[in-house]
Amino acid sequence: MSISLKSKNDIEKMKIAGNYAAKVLEYLEDFVQVGISTEEIDNLAYKYITEELKCIPANVGYNDYPKTLCTSINDVICHGIPSDKEILKDGDIVNIDITVIVDGWHGDTSKMFLIGKSKPHVKRLVDITRECMFKGIEVCKPGAFTGDIGYAIQTHAEKNHYSVVKNYCGHGIGKIYHEDPQITHFGNKGEGIKLEEGMVFTIEPMINLGSHKTKLLKDGWTVVTEDGKLSAQWEHTIAITEQGYEILTLREEEK
Ligand code: MF3
Ligand code: CO
Ligand code: CO
Repeated sequence: MSISLKSKNDIEKMKIAGNYAAKVLEYLEDFVQVGISTEEIDNLAYKYITEELKCIPANVGYNDYPKTLCTSINDVICHGIPSDKEILKDGDIVNIDITVIVDGWHGDTSKMFLIGKSKPHVKRLVDITRECMFKGIEVCKPGAFTGDIGYAIQTHAEKNHYSVVKNYCGHGIGKIYHEDPQITHFGNKGEGIKLEEGMVFTIEPMINLGSHKTKLLKDGWTVVTEDGKLSAQWEHTIAITEQGYEILTLREEEK
C-alpha cells in the first residue's frame, strides 16, 4: 500500500468537501434535541446534502451501509445506524459522523452533541476527547511521525484515566474514502510513518470511560464498549502543509 500525496490544488478541492461536511453538522445542531429519532436526523441530513449542498453522502451504500450518518449514542463507540426506534433522551451523548463527496473528493468529520442536561462526568469525557483530537492535530507537520499523533492523544486520555480504542483508527482520505496511512490514536513518539506535505488524513479518537475493549453488534456495523460504559469521539480531516497542518473540516464555531 502507498500513501497518495495531494497537490495544493487537490487540497483546495478537499477544503470544499471538508467545508460541506462541516456545514452538515452545523445545520443539524438545531434539530439534535430530546425527542427526535436518529432516523429523523438522518433524513434531514440526506435532504440537506442532496438538495441544498447538492453533493453526495458518502456513507450511503459504502460497503452496503444503509444510511447517511453514523449516530453513536452513549456506549456506542462508532458506526451506530440511525433508526426510528432510537429516540434521543435527556442526558444522552451522541456522536454524529458525516462524510460527503464533492467533485470526487471526500470530507469526513464528526462531533459530539450533549442532549438536554448532562452530568459533569459525562461532559468531562466529551470535553477531554475533543482536547485529545486537537492535541493529536497540533503535533502534525512535515517530519513528525504518526506515532507522535497517537502519543499525544493517548497521553492526554490516560492522564485523565480514560482509555483509547485500539481497534478503530483514523485514515488517509482523498478520492478514496479510507486509504493509507492508518492513524492510530495511541503510539510512541518517533514511530510509525513520517508525515509529508500533501498527506491528508483524519484524526478521530474514540475515548472510553472504562475499558478500551470493543464489541461488534449483530447488525455488522454498530461498535459498542464491551463493558457498557460511555464512549466519545470527535473527528476532523486535516492536510499536512509546508507550515504544519490545516484543518479542512473546521466549523464556524471553531474558527
Ligand atoms: N465516517 C466514518 C469514519 O470516520 C466511517 C463510516 S463508514 C460507514 O471513518 F459505512 F459506517 F458509514
Ligand atoms: Co467519520
Ligand atoms: Co473517518
